Amino acid sequence: MLIIGNWKAYIESTTKAKALFASAKRLSAKGVHEVVVAPAYPYIGMGAGIKGLILGAQDVSETTGGAQTGEVAAGQLADLGVSYVIAGHSERRARGETDEVVTEKVRHIFAHGMVPVLCVGERERDSDAQYLKEVRQQISVVMEALSQKERLQVVLAYEPVWAIGKTGADAITAGDLAEMVLYIRKILGDYIPGRATTKVKILYGGSVDAENIRMLASGTGVEGFLVGRASADVAAFSGLVKALS
Ligand code: PGA
Repeated sequence: MLIIGNWKAYIESTTKAKALFASAKRLSAKGVHEVVVAPAYPYIGMGAGIKGLILGAQDVSETTGGAQTGEVAAGQLADLGVSYVIAGHSERRARGETDEVVTEKVRHIFAHGMVPVLCVGERERDSDAQYLKEVRQQISVVMEALSQKERLQVVLAYEPVWAIGKTGADAITAGDLAEMVLYIRKILGDYIPGRATTKVKILYGGSVDAENIRMLASGTGVEGFLVGRASADVAAFSGLVKALS
C-alpha cells in the first residue's frame, strides 16, 4: 500500500520533524508498504538530505516560478528530490482553489517528473446524491487536460471533507468507501480505456488511524491512505502503518 503522511501545519519543531522522518524511513525500509512524508515547505530541505526517505509536498504553485513572491514552484520541489505532490487538498480548495487551478498544478507536477496526488471529495452527503456530481467534476476537469499516459500515473486521493480532521470513529464506513471507489473507477472509465482504469491508484483520506485502517483497507478497493493528524505523531503514524501489515 501507499501511505502518505500529510503533516499539514502541525509540526513546528525540527527535533520532531527529524524523529518523524527517521520513523517513516524505517517503516518504508521494511519494504511492505511505500511510506511517504509530506512535510510543510520549511522541512522539505531537511528531508531531502535523508537517504531512503520518500518525500512528498503538500502543495505547489500553479505558476512556473520567477517573480512570484511566496510561491513554491514545481521545479524547486523536483530539485530537492520530492516524488509526490498533493494537489487540490480540500483545505486549499476551501481557500478558493478551483478545479482549473488544481489542473495547472497537476500539469506542473508532471512536467517536472513528479507524481500528483489529486485530492477529491464531497463537502457533504445529500440525499439526492448531488455529492457524486461534485466528485465527478473534480476528477473530470483534471483528466480532460491530461495525456493518456499521465491519466494512468495520477494518484487519486478520495477525501470526503466531512470526514477530515476528526476522530477515527468519524471516518467513512467500509461499505460507503467501497461504493465510492467503484464510482471513481467508473468516472475514470470515461477517460481511460477498458481495464487500464485499475492502474490508477486510489487512496482514502479522512480520520485514518491505527484503529480503523484495517477496516478501511479490507475489501474497499483502496490501495493506500493519505493521513493527516495521525501522521504528525511518531507513535500514531508507526502504529497505523504496522496495523496494516
Ligand atoms: P486527517 O487528514 O487524517 O487529519 O483527517 C487527512 C487529510 O486531510 O489529508
